Amino acid sequence: MKIPESLVPAFEKQITLEFRAALTYRQLAIEMAAQSLPGTAAWFTRQADEEVLHAQRFIDHVLDRGGRPVIGEVPAQQPLTNPTPLEAFRAALAHEEKVSAAIRELYVATEAAGDLDSRPLLNEFVAEQVEEEATVGEVLSALERVGDDGPGLLRIDADLASRGTTGA
Ligand SMILES: [Fe+2]
Repeated sequence: MKIPESLVPAFEKQITLEFRAALTYRQLAIEMAAQSLPGTAAWFTRQADEEVLHAQRFIDHVLDRGGRPVIGEVPAQQPLTNPTPLEAFRAALAHEEKVSAAIRELYVATEAAGDLDSRPLLNEFVAEQVEEEATVGEVLSALERVGDDGPGLLRIDADLASRGTTGA
Protein backbone atom coordinates (compact mmCIF):
# COMPACT_ATOMS: atom_id res chain seq x y z
CA MET A 1 0.00 0.00 0.00
CA LYS A 2 1.24 3.49 -0.84
CA ILE A 3 2.37 5.27 2.29
CA PRO A 4 -0.26 7.74 3.56
CA GLU A 5 1.02 11.29 2.97
CA SER A 6 0.25 12.11 6.59
CA LEU A 7 2.78 9.53 7.80
CA VAL A 8 5.74 10.71 5.70
CA PRO A 9 6.75 13.47 8.18
CA ALA A 10 6.74 10.93 11.02
CA PHE A 11 9.13 8.69 9.07
CA GLU A 12 11.27 11.69 8.09
CA LYS A 13 11.59 12.56 11.77
CA GLN A 14 12.84 9.05 12.52
CA ILE A 15 15.28 9.11 9.58
CA THR A 16 16.72 12.39 10.83
CA LEU A 17 17.00 11.05 14.38
CA GLU A 18 18.95 7.99 13.16
CA PHE A 19 21.42 10.28 11.34
CA ARG A 20 21.64 12.36 14.48
CA ALA A 21 22.44 9.23 16.49
CA ALA A 22 25.18 8.41 13.97
CA LEU A 23 26.82 11.80 14.50
CA THR A 24 26.44 11.56 18.29
CA TYR A 25 28.29 8.23 18.21
CA ARG A 26 30.92 9.58 15.83
CA GLN A 27 31.59 12.43 18.24
CA LEU A 28 31.89 10.00 21.16
CA ALA A 29 34.31 7.94 19.02
CA ILE A 30 36.43 11.07 18.55
CA GLU A 31 36.47 11.72 22.30
CA MET A 32 37.49 8.15 23.06
CA ALA A 33 40.20 8.12 20.36
CA ALA A 34 41.59 11.37 21.78
CA GLN A 35 41.92 9.63 25.14
CA SER A 36 43.82 6.70 23.61
CA LEU A 37 40.99 4.23 24.01
CA PRO A 38 41.03 2.76 20.48
CA GLY A 39 38.74 -0.18 21.25
CA THR A 40 36.04 2.05 22.70
CA ALA A 41 36.47 4.47 19.78
CA ALA A 42 36.11 1.61 17.29
CA TRP A 43 32.94 0.41 19.02
CA PHE A 44 31.35 3.86 18.80
CA THR A 45 32.40 4.14 15.15
CA ARG A 46 30.77 0.81 14.28
CA GLN A 47 27.67 1.86 16.19
CA ALA A 48 27.61 5.12 14.19
CA ASP A 49 27.79 3.17 10.91
CA GLU A 50 24.89 1.04 12.07
CA GLU A 51 22.75 4.09 12.73
CA VAL A 52 23.28 5.18 9.12
CA LEU A 53 22.03 1.75 8.02
CA HIS A 54 18.97 2.22 10.24
CA ALA A 55 18.26 5.55 8.57
CA GLN A 56 18.63 3.89 5.16
CA ARG A 57 16.13 1.17 6.08
CA PHE A 58 13.50 3.79 6.92
CA ILE A 59 14.37 5.71 3.73
CA ASP A 60 13.96 2.54 1.65
CA HIS A 61 10.65 1.74 3.34
CA VAL A 62 9.20 5.13 2.43
CA LEU A 63 10.66 4.98 -1.11
CA ASP A 64 9.34 1.45 -1.67
CA ARG A 65 5.89 2.73 -0.81
CA GLY A 66 5.96 5.63 -3.24
CA GLY A 67 7.03 8.37 -0.83
CA ARG A 68 10.00 10.68 -1.17
CA PRO A 69 11.43 11.38 2.26
CA VAL A 70 13.46 14.50 2.97
CA ILE A 71 16.24 14.34 5.55
CA GLY A 72 15.75 17.00 8.20
CA GLU A 73 18.22 19.24 9.92
CA VAL A 74 20.72 17.65 12.28
CA PRO A 75 21.87 20.12 14.94
CA ALA A 76 25.58 20.66 15.56
CA GLN A 77 27.14 18.40 18.15
CA GLN A 78 27.56 19.72 21.64
CA PRO A 79 30.45 17.53 22.67
CA LEU A 80 30.93 16.49 26.27
CA THR A 81 34.12 17.94 27.70
CA ASN A 82 36.68 15.19 28.00
CA PRO A 83 34.12 12.52 28.95
CA THR A 84 35.21 9.37 30.72
CA PRO A 85 34.10 6.13 29.04
CA LEU A 86 31.45 5.91 31.75
CA GLU A 87 30.08 9.34 30.82
CA ALA A 88 30.25 8.45 27.12
CA PHE A 89 28.17 5.31 27.67
CA ARG A 90 25.73 7.17 29.90
CA ALA A 91 25.24 9.63 27.04
CA ALA A 92 24.83 6.69 24.64
CA LEU A 93 22.16 5.09 26.83
CA ALA A 94 20.27 8.37 27.14
CA HIS A 95 20.35 8.67 23.36
CA GLU A 96 19.16 5.11 22.82
CA GLU A 97 16.25 5.69 25.20
CA LYS A 98 15.32 8.74 23.17
CA VAL A 99 15.45 6.73 19.93
CA SER A 100 13.33 3.96 21.53
CA ALA A 101 10.70 6.50 22.58
CA ALA A 102 10.68 7.94 19.05
CA ILE A 103 10.15 4.50 17.52
CA ARG A 104 7.23 3.83 19.85
CA GLU A 105 5.79 7.21 18.89
CA LEU A 106 6.17 6.36 15.19
CA TYR A 107 4.52 2.99 15.81
CA VAL A 108 1.56 4.64 17.53
CA ALA A 109 1.19 7.10 14.61
CA THR A 110 1.18 4.30 12.01
CA GLU A 111 -1.31 2.24 14.03
CA ALA A 112 -3.60 5.25 14.38
CA ALA A 113 -3.50 5.61 10.59
CA GLY A 114 -4.33 1.90 10.18
CA ASP A 115 -1.04 1.44 8.33
CA LEU A 116 -0.41 -2.29 8.69
CA ASP A 117 2.32 -2.31 6.03
CA SER A 118 4.88 -0.65 8.27
CA ARG A 119 4.28 -3.07 11.14
CA PRO A 120 6.95 -5.68 10.28
CA LEU A 121 9.66 -3.03 9.95
CA LEU A 122 8.64 -1.29 13.15
CA ASN A 123 8.42 -4.56 15.07
CA GLU A 124 12.00 -5.22 14.04
CA PHE A 125 13.08 -1.83 15.29
CA VAL A 126 11.21 -2.19 18.58
CA ALA A 127 13.17 -5.41 19.16
CA GLU A 128 16.37 -3.75 17.94
CA GLN A 129 16.01 -1.00 20.54
CA VAL A 130 15.60 -3.54 23.34
CA GLU A 131 18.93 -5.04 22.19
CA GLU A 132 20.62 -1.64 21.89
CA GLU A 133 19.61 -0.59 25.39
CA ALA A 134 20.68 -3.94 26.83
CA THR A 135 24.10 -3.84 25.15
CA VAL A 136 24.84 -0.28 26.20
CA GLY A 137 23.53 -1.02 29.70
CA GLU A 138 25.83 -4.02 29.98
CA VAL A 139 28.94 -2.03 29.07
CA LEU A 140 27.77 0.68 31.44
CA SER A 141 27.62 -1.70 34.41
CA ALA A 142 31.07 -3.10 33.58
CA LEU A 143 32.41 0.47 33.56
CA GLU A 144 30.67 1.24 36.85
CA ARG A 145 32.25 -1.84 38.37
CA VAL A 146 35.83 -0.94 37.38
CA GLY A 147 35.51 2.74 38.33
CA ASP A 148 38.90 4.48 38.02
CA ASP A 149 40.89 1.27 37.82
CA GLY A 150 43.26 1.77 34.85
CA PRO A 151 43.90 -1.89 34.03
CA GLY A 152 40.17 -2.58 34.31
CA LEU A 153 39.39 0.19 31.82
CA LEU A 154 42.02 -1.13 29.41
CA ARG A 155 40.47 -4.58 29.62
CA ILE A 156 37.06 -3.17 28.75
CA ASP A 157 38.67 -1.19 25.91
CA ALA A 158 40.27 -4.36 24.54
CA ASP A 159 36.95 -6.17 24.85
CA LEU A 160 35.09 -3.41 23.00
CA ALA A 161 37.66 -3.56 20.17
CA SER A 162 36.56 -7.06 19.25
CA ARG A 163 32.96 -6.84 20.34
CA GLY A 164 30.27 -6.52 17.73
CA THR A 165 27.53 -3.98 18.03
CA THR A 166 23.90 -4.92 18.23
CA GLY A 167 23.26 -5.61 14.56
CA ALA A 168 20.91 -3.80 12.22
FE1 LIG B 1 19.17 3.27 15.37
